[in-house]
Amino acid sequence: MLRRHRAGQVLAVGGLALLLTAVGWGAWAWKSSLLPDTYDVMGYGRHDFGGGSEPADGHHGRAAETVSVSALHGPPGTPDTRFRLVARKANVRLPSGQTVEALTFDGTVPGTELRVRQGELVQVTLENRDVQPGVTIHWHGIDVPNAEDGVAGVTQDAVPPGGSHVYRFRAEQVGTFWYHSHESSSTQVRRGLFGAIVIEPRSGVEEGLDLAVVAHVFDGRETLDGRDGTRHRVVAPGTRVRLRLVNTDNAPKPFVLSGTAFRVAAIDGTDLNEPGLIKGNELRVAPGGRYDVTFAMPASPVALRVDGTPAALALSQNGRGLAQVVKPRRVFDPAVYGRPAPVPFGADSAFDREFTLEIGRKPGFLDGDPGMHWTVNGGIYPDVPVFMVEAGDLVKLAISNETSTVHPMHLHGHHALVLSRDGKATRGSPLWTDTLDVEAGTRYELAFRADNPGLWMEHCHNLNHAAAGLTTHVAYLGVTTPFRVGGDAHNHPE
Ligand code: C2O
Ligand code: CU
Repeated sequence: MLRRHRAGQVLAVGGLALLLTAVGWGAWAWKSSLLPDTYDVMGYGRHDFGGGSEPADGHHGRAAETVSVSALHGPPGTPDTRFRLVARKANVRLPSGQTVEALTFDGTVPGTELRVRQGELVQVTLENRDVQPGVTIHWHGIDVPNAEDGVAGVTQDAVPPGGSHVYRFRAEQVGTFWYHSHESSSTQVRRGLFGAIVIEPRSGVEEGLDLAVVAHVFDGRETLDGRDGTRHRVVAPGTRVRLRLVNTDNAPKPFVLSGTAFRVAAIDGTDLNEPGLIKGNELRVAPGGRYDVTFAMPASPVALRVDGTPAALALSQNGRGLAQVVKPRRVFDPAVYGRPAPVPFGADSAFDREFTLEIGRKPGFLDGDPGMHWTVNGGIYPDVPVFMVEAGDLVKLAISNETSTVHPMHLHGHHALVLSRDGKATRGSPLWTDTLDVEAGTRYELAFRADNPGLWMEHCHNLNHAAAGLTTHVAYLGVTTPFRVGGDAHNHPE
């Protein structure tokens, strides 16, 4: 009897201890997930050296070689082109009659389209009239010097209402890009703070119709260049047409071009090699991604639609014709399109560092919030890897998606060559990307040259996912930042 009583006591005490341990662990996990009000992104995460050299003193590399992000700005000299973009609130009226309380550059959504020529020194002055708590401009896909990258809390402080900031960079990559705020980006981009930027070849664009078409779900309505419904344009037969498709949303965008065969001439601002003529495919552009499509205008109408929505751009000889709606037969696959061409490195190059970025999901705490959260290599932000590189490194990055949703992964400051998908080598044109849809259950291998020193974001361009912790960095050894996330400048990059 006494024995049994003792045994019961022991069990009870043991159970209580277990419970306390669990509660204690939970409290500890909760507490340790809390982000301070203000912090340095380089002070967080797990520094991953990818098998390459590591600095002796841990975090920031050899002190003697430390350089601040702020020193990595664009070139001096008189700019060849100047722009001024004013961030401000505006009521934007859609053709359907709906009025949207938007955040805009220059009062419109999308903001002013910027066109520059290759080789030009570009200077853009951002003025923030009244957008709380601040605004920045990130040049999505343009590999600008780090201080010009526009990430609040990493490369600059958010520009408060009444403030301004100057960006300078040399336009070297010909192609289609876009710009957007990288302060509270999940909210500010959704509400309209973005626009297209096109870098034209030195010799100018081909004669014909050259149009950026920005697709965005605005207040629940699909829009092309800020217009819902159908927009008509007169185009004479024989005209060379280039449509620069830009997806500024969080979900892949199913574009369908009907009425003509066409080529996908460029992806993410890089021309494809020998793109073949195709017809009827769905062009599934990644969030943040861009496709340039080209064709010669036929005598009959052509239409660009976002599949399953009323948004359309109708091109015709008389400005009234509308090409039939077609059901796309298949999704265009850039991994097998075009013809191979020489590349500076490939799958069998000797890599200086090799990284794995595995996207998952698990229960835990994100800044104190309990729930199912995105993970990178098993950890919830900020317990994620920071990929450390040195200038000149050839880097291999394997991204795998163990979740059931697509993640458009975007690397700032670099273009990466897609080597393989699920172990199969890409077999078409070299495919250089800055924003790659990594589908559920899929694994990609990418390679890039670390040739742009700085602290760079590597994040999901479903900006809601980024805001929910699906974000990390590629950081050059020895680069430090004087900026802080949070704090008085209200820097919240996501
Ligand atoms: Cu288009 Cu980090 O962004
Ligand atoms: Cu995502």
